[in-house]
Amino acid sequence: MDQPLDLNIPAGAPDPTADDAAAACHAAAGRRAPASATMPVPGPASGGVSPGTQLVVSPALPGSHDARARRTLPGDLTPRQALERMIRVDHAGEYGAKRIYQGQLAVLGNSDKAEILRHMQAQEQVHLDTFAGLIATRRVRPTLLLPLWHVAGWALGAATAAMGERAAMACTVAVEEAIDEHYAAQHETLGEDEAALRDTIDVFREEELEHRDIGLDNEAELTPGYKVLCAIIKTGCKVAIAVSERV
Ligand SMILES: [Fe+2]
Ligand SMILES: [Fe+2]
Repeated sequence: MDQPLDLNIPAGAPDPTADDAAAACHAAAGRRAPASATMPVPGPASGGVSPGTQLVVSPALPGSHDARARRTLPGDLTPRQALERMIRVDHAGEYGAKRIYQGQLAVLGNSDKAEILRHMQAQEQVHLDTFAGLIATRRVRPTLLLPLWHVAGWALGAATAAMGERAAMACTVAVEEAIDEHYAAQHETLGEDEAALRDTIDVFREEELEHRDIGLDNEAELTPGYKVLCAIIKTGCKVAIAVSERV
């Protein structure tokens, strides 16, 4: 099958209903163990393969995927376009995540939650630096919306922190669940010739799940209106993901 592959990345579709997001938030009880401390974190350059490398659909994908992979329709993304979108949105997301924790620390910087917020912020900085490296080495245009995420991320963090420590943690749970789903979808899309990038995403995904669990361990679910707050934030994240892929 030497026809071009159709990479129909499903990462960006906005959540159609708040109920779905609330259910997803509520399902957070099925948490994972935190990422292993010995897990290697690929550096900024290691997620990169030389420019022009073709992105492939994993042969392990289910049959329905294979069927799609053999057809390319007008308007479908090229592998290069799909890869650019992936790196662009991941860079934007990690930038926003860092800004959320900065906003939370602006309010809770002297609280007993400050240390864990700084821990999560430091990990987001590593994620951001890695994707900033890929933006440079892969020659990908960053999203034009970085100034918006600069403001919106900080505002979300500060606003939830102003509502209380539990609300700040609820924000973390909602954001990290959205990112987990996003990275999981990207994992399924990347093939062996992008194994380094896929491994990087896997490591980051584990750390996002660690953040979610930190939020749950710090009573996020006791926030008044937890499900509604979580649903609103998670839906907002999914909209931001969809927009940042394209703009
Ligand atoms: Fe992150
Ligand atoms: Fe995170």
